[in-house]
Amino acid sequence: MTAGRKPVTAGGKPVTTGRKPPGLCDATRGRILFGGDYNPEQWPEETWQEDVRLMSAAGVNSVTMGVFSWARLEPRPGERDFGWLDRLMDLMHDHGIGVVLATPTASPPPWLGRLHPETLPRDADGRTEWWGGRQHFSHSSAAYRRYAAAITEDLAARYGGHPALTMWHINNEYCTFDHGDEAAAAFRRWLRERYGTLDALNTAWGTAFWSQGYDTWEGILPPRHAHYLKNPTQVLDFRRFTSDMLLECYRAERDIVARHTPHIPVTTNFMPLWTGQDAWRWADEEDVVSVDLYPDPRDPLGAQHGALVHDLTRSQARGPWMLMEQAAGPVNWRGVNHPKPRGLNRQWSLQAVARGADAVCYFQWRQSRQGAEKFHSGMVSHAGAEGRTFQEVKQLGAELAGIGGEVTGRHMHADIAILHDWHSWWAGAHEGRLSTEVDLPDVLHAWHRALWEANLTTDFAHPEHDLSSYRLVVVPQLYLLTDTAIGNLLAYVRGGGTLVSGFLTGIADEDDRIRPGGMDARLRELFGIRTLHEWWPLDAGETVACEGFRGTLWSEEIEALPGVSETVPYRGGELDGLPAVLRNGRAWYVSTLPEPEALRGLLGRIAADAGVRPVLDGLPAGVEAVRRGELLFLFNHGREEAKISLMGTHRDLLTGTTVTGETVLGRHGVAVLKP
Ligand code: GLA
Repeated sequence: MTAGRKPVTAGGKPVTTGRKPPGLCDATRGRILFGGDYNPEQWPEETWQEDVRLMSAAGVNSVTMGVFSWARLEPRPGERDFGWLDRLMDLMHDHGIGVVLATPTASPPPWLGRLHPETLPRDADGRTEWWGGRQHFSHSSAAYRRYAAAITEDLAARYGGHPALTMWHINNEYCTFDHGDEAAAAFRRWLRERYGTLDALNTAWGTAFWSQGYDTWEGILPPRHAHYLKNPTQVLDFRRFTSDMLLECYRAERDIVARHTPHIPVTTNFMPLWTGQDAWRWADEEDVVSVDLYPDPRDPLGAQHGALVHDLTRSQARGPWMLMEQAAGPVNWRGVNHPKPRGLNRQWSLQAVARGADAVCYFQWRQSRQGAEKFHSGMVSHAGAEGRTFQEVKQLGAELAGIGGEVTGRHMHADIAILHDWHSWWAGAHEGRLSTEVDLPDVLHAWHRALWEANLTTDFAHPEHDLSSYRLVVVPQLYLLTDTAIGNLLAYVRGGGTLVSGFLTGIADEDDRIRPGGMDARLRELFGIRTLHEWWPLDAGETVACEGFRGTLWSEEIEALPGVSETVPYRGGELDGLPAVLRNGRAWYVSTLPEPEALRGLLGRIAADAGVRPVLDGLPAGVEAVRRGELLFLFNHGREEAKISLMGTHRDLLTGTTVTGETVLGRHGVAVLKP
């Protein structure tokens, strides 16, 4: 944060209620939480009885209720209908099932929008987001906030003392943007707090360009529909503002429930790598960090996407975390929605546990018969209790119950951190960038994949975090870096750490102003770059030859400082002979995106030099190995059977058998081995 600039909300600060924050272990008590979103208001009460019978049979010990119940709880403004929820809370408690109780504020009842049209958000083109779907609320609307606080207050007062209550779930997947008038006023207030004076704002936004100078705060708008490219810093600040406003909504509800029940943990569910929230900052405000995860069953890298989200969420939680939602079968929001083949649901669930989850939950318990998600799977599918989906869920429930005592609360150790920052992502994604082929999530996935395939366990970290516990820090791309972050990276290398950075890093400052020389001078010196002459983005599918490998997406015309330890040159083309990769002592710079095998080889070598070892050596391709505490988890993601050699004797906690020397895993196979 630049000197004199204030964060508008108290980002990074723990709960403001003065209580000692409870954690996930307060809810799990030595068991892995297993269950899912339960929407009983969609079903007659007879079905509730069948539900609890099936839940007990499947080992379900946790349900999330009330996520979309606002219209049922408050059918008319100010009225309350809690009777049905009273009966359900009791029913769950009678069956030993804990309740993660949600505030229903993600989907206001139609009456709210009708009585208060200002609660409805507007997109950049001025179109209103009407009721009839969900998430049709403006984070800036005073009326929305008033009604949301009132229903939250009454829920907390009524159920705070209920013995079934294990956790609070605030709202759902906060994700709305609003360009309307109330949001515009709030944006101006946010900007006044950030910049203090109009002069400071005009300087930060570079409004000398295209005659954009503001003479009054009232002239400032959210980045609404415009004739041509929008001001990048205005867009960046609007993203910061949106994340902060949603966070204010979350904090308001969290503080209400925490006042009633200081001992009950609070969460809100993230969408993984969702662009709308600075999730580092949000995670610091949660007692339990939870995430919703839906890899495509047909995606050959679905397991790696899962692993990336697990690693990111664990790092945000700084410990065990909650898989709040996944699908037992197909989702219904892709172009083509595939079910999970036999064994895949079990494998991906156990993979989350291996990577630090202490809760494995689903959207949703029973597949809906009506509504927009009637084709989205549930733990109980339309086929009912006899269906394969429920049968597999039941098996998984038993297995999770079997290993819970050995796993919950155990942390994982990683020697490598991948750096990621939302502000950098927002700034780098501006419509006026050099290449629309470069998409940060793809770049993050490519670097994570190289480490994942080499069975090198990684955490994620923010560029301003303390990095001193890591042997290797990997920066896939940090287009925007604050001065604090740059100082942090320099200190990390000075302190003996190894740093490897991908292209387009250190280009812009906090206001998205290009650093002199096209890249921060301190970083150029660190990586051994004398001059960065030009960026040479590549077309879709185009590759560039480098000595020993091919690069994709991007290349750079760089002149190295004399005396850098090592370079790998481009071969042929415009950049022939110039360095594609530079090593300057313990700092590496990679100016293209090497193809997957080459990146894996390069990172494997750098990790080995830094003293980092894979979890196991000599694993067959497609086998993932993860250690959590003393347990070794093995996953076969390949189509063929895999033989894995092991040192010593282990007990497989899933089968109860003793494993000596070698274990064989079939397709989607899993072993959880205890020495
Ligand atoms: C999200 C939501 C759920 C449901 C699922 C469907 O994760 O939180 O309510 O819509 O998507 O995949």
